[in-house]
Amino acid sequence: MRRKLAAGNWKMNGTTAALSELEALTRAFPSPTVDVLICPPATLLHRAAEAVRGTGITVGGQDCHAATSGAHTGDISADMLVDAGANTVILGHSERREDHDEQNEDVRAKARGAMDAGLKAIICVGESLEQREAANTLEIIGGQMSGSIPDQSTGENLIVAYEPIWAIGTGKVPTLNEIGEVHDFIRARLERRFGEGVGRSVRLLYGGSVKPSNAAEIFGVSNVDGALVGGASLKAADFSGIVEALEKT
Ligand code: PGA
Repeated sequence: MRRKLAAGNWKMNGTTAALSELEALTRAFPSPTVDVLICPPATLLHRAAEAVRGTGITVGGQDCHAATSGAHTGDISADMLVDAGANTVILGHSERREDHDEQNEDVRAKARGAMDAGLKAIICVGESLEQREAANTLEIIGGQMSGSIPDQSTGENLIVAYEPIWAIGTGKVPTLNEIGEVHDFIRARLERRFGEGVGRSVRLLYGGSVKPSNAAEIFGVSNVDGALVGGASLKAADFSGIVEALEKT
């Protein structure tokens, strides 16, 4: 059985005051029956880890460098994320791929570094609107998976997030059939590459405009094991609705 996961990505949002949202979330879910993860900006990570200590909620990073240390001004290593209290890191988010020109091989190197440090890696894949309209979605996702997911992946250390770029922060969501088609494709590909045992144990998240009002139907789609949530993870009240929907799935 794959454990369900509700993951929040705060992106470049949140200063000290935002920790009160995390505290509200811990009060709402003292012992959630699904995994609940919040990925705040790196500046808040250590304090966020302290805020959730002893609860079922965990914290993660939004990116890491592939190397463990060295002359890389401004970067953060996976070991540093672990030291700050993270157990997971988001890698290859489309905003990183776009803003920082991250290629599949960069994402793969980062994922290796993260897994070597003992982190779970949420590797993001997803097509642009042009690619979907040209009916290239599965080809794009397949290429991103081959290029970005390292060989050392297991059901424990790998989570794949399907995030259509055109659905992120736009309020647009693919149809349930479209989500199911991609998630089934990702599952089949993982089983082919890693074998059925591992392929079946990797958790698959959907991301892109998930909110309390659409979460339940999305969680009902086959091979959707949870969500990666941006905007609706910033407020405890919104994110709670998503966690509740996942608990009921
Ligand atoms: P959104 O972002 O929920 O605000 O659409 C999702 C994401 O980028 O992970």
